[in-house]
Amino acid sequence: MTFQRIGVVGAGQMGAGIAQVFAAAGIPVRLFDASEMALAKGLAGIKTSLEKLASKGKLTPEAAAAAHARIEPSARVASFKDCDLVVEAVIEDLAIKKKLFQELDAVLPPQAILASNTSSISITTLAASTKRPDRFIGMHFMNPVPLMQLVEVIRGLSTSDDTYAKVKAAAEQVGKTPIVANDFPGFVANRILMPMINEAITCVLEGVATPEAIDGIMKLGLNHPMGPLALADLIGLDTCLAIMEVLHHDLGDSKYRPSPLLRKMVAAGHLGRKTGRGFYPYG
Ligand code: CAA
Repeated sequence: MTFQRIGVVGAGQMGAGIAQVFAAAGIPVRLFDASEMALAKGLAGIKTSLEKLASKGKLTPEAAAAAHARIEPSARVASFKDCDLVVEAVIEDLAIKKKLFQELDAVLPPQAILASNTSSISITTLAASTKRPDRFIGMHFMNPVPLMQLVEVIRGLSTSDDTYAKVKAAAEQVGKTPIVANDFPGFVANRILMPMINEAITCVLEGVATPEAIDGIMKLGLNHPMGPLALADLIGLDTCLAIMEVLHHDLGDSKYRPSPLLRKMVAAGHLGRKTGRGFYPYG
């Protein structure tokens, strides 16, 4: 393996999924979250996911248990001092990410690579908050991470060829398919996906159709595995709004204006699956 020990920051659905796929590929992982509760929830989610995959014969029960055991929860960023790759998966907030990367930069060995799982924030900007912009890259996994094939790899302005080659190899070694994109707002996946989700939300607002009808039309008519509103609930409406804000602000085009209904639902705390209510109710 290209990397001997991986650090993951953030034990939410993305961070937990990233920790899981590295651990399942045999790599020791340290998983950090500032919230003890989030860390415990993340580890429990990983266990459930591994057991589900084992029940479907995707891996043996022994391999599932071993993967879980390879993930060491950590209460301090300082514990990442022996990691040679750290993937950040915290909330989409530039100031929080910059502060975290400065802390990681101070702790990690000089050769270590920093990667961000950001869904839209500039990799070049994040890299510039560290003293290692050449060893900084975007590694954008898709949700649900254990099931989705793609890792969108984003090169910042200063990302070196060596960093890119190592991260691409690591993505392949954990069974994913890396595809490279340049550093533009939203990169490729969210530049195209989020305006579609935003438009579906505008259709709800204008009464074009019910959420069920919109999702049904997109599933049956375009062969999408999930409708855009069910997908927004899976991703989290707060994340969808954060991405639309980046597209709108950084590209400066009114076509990326977040739907007022999206803003209203986020303000109400109806964030999708994680809060039990979004466009659909969840048990
Ligand atoms: N680990 C293990 N199993 C999981 C899982 C996980 N994390 N998440 C779901 N599953 C399981 C489900 O529980 C289900 O199990 P059962 O069959 O026992 O019920 C199984 O996987 C398959 O689920 P479905 O029956 O719903 O089958 P599906 O064929 O619809 O596959 C899916 C599920 C892969 C999620 C599919 O619906 C899909 O591809 N949806 C679109 C996902 C997508 O677009 N992701 C990208 C989001 S954008 C993003 O991530 C970028 C960003 O920055 C916002």
